[in-house]
Amino acid sequence: MSWIVESSLTAFQKFCVNVIKCGPIPKHVAFIMDGNRRYATKNKVQKAEGHVKGFDKLSETLQWCLELGIVEVTVYAFSIENFKRSSDEVETLMQLATEKFRKFLDEEDKIMAHGVCVRIIGNLSLLSEELQRLIAKVTLMTKDNNKAYLNVAFAYTSRDEIKNTVETIVEGVRNGSIEIDDIDEDLVSECLYTSGSPDPDIIVRTSGEMRLSDFLLWQISSSQICFSQVLWPEFSIWHLLACVFKYQRCYPNLKKVETCKVNKNERVQEFLEQLQQQRLAQLKSYI
Ligand code: FPP
Ligand code: MG
Repeated sequence: MSWIVESSLTAFQKFCVNVIKCGPIPKHVAFIMDGNRRYATKNKVQKAEGHVKGFDKLSETLQWCLELGIVEVTVYAFSIENFKRSSDEVETLMQLATEKFRKFLDEEDKIMAHGVCVRIIGNLSLLSEELQRLIAKVTLMTKDNNKAYLNVAFAYTSRDEIKNTVETIVEGVRNGSIEIDDIDEDLVSECLYTSGSPDPDIIVRTSGEMRLSDFLLWQISSSQICFSQVLWPEFSIWHLLACVFKYQRCYPNLKKVETCKVNKNERVQEFLEQLQQQRLAQLKSYI
């Protein structure tokens, strides 16, 4: 299945989407897409098939998010912990990602017409050269798009991201680019892999598990958490609408964490610009 699919909503579902759109719509929703293997067992198919169905559900969900006006989506596609699974399963997931990123590049015209900016967040040094090359191409191709944003967490854990951020900041202090007094919460946020993205308004985890599994731990301090009982490949527009409806009911109580972008001194601004340049240069070196 493609990354971008046509809308398949019925007239009644479209009507419900429009009703929900009368309330506040989250700007950014994150998904822990859990339950692919249980879906495979339940339906007596191979695990790999469960993951393929998981990708198809991701495409559908992205379309629903667009229809709802949710402009940014972050998905947990592969945790660093997942490397501990059997070598067969890791290989299957890597092959699926390779195939899907290749398809993404083949669909360039469609993707660019939709103006989707895709970022792969994670420790890319843990991936094969082929995946690094594809990920670099996907990111560089879409980096200036600004109609919708998709962040794919791949070879990601939050603790690894925070460790990387601490190293970046320590190195900045050590080489004199910034001073210890420049370190504040905003600086940490801007050095994470997710720098530039607003924090998620909602995080959804499917499959009934009530854990965060080391996903976006810094970024979700004020997010609405929505645990859904359904397995990821069975997730439907109704489950998504229920999550958004819950967010709307809690909206007046949600604490807004605003990042302060105006008061950064020139030293910090320059440090952050250099960091972006270094990250771009790192990606270009993969091609
Ligand atoms: C969790 O279900 C799912 C994963 C570890 C993989 C998710 C990957 C996809 C949906 C494909 C996405 C691919 C790209 C390129 C974005 P599980 O395996 O933990 O299943 P279980 O909880 O039933 O054991
Ligand atoms: Mg699981």
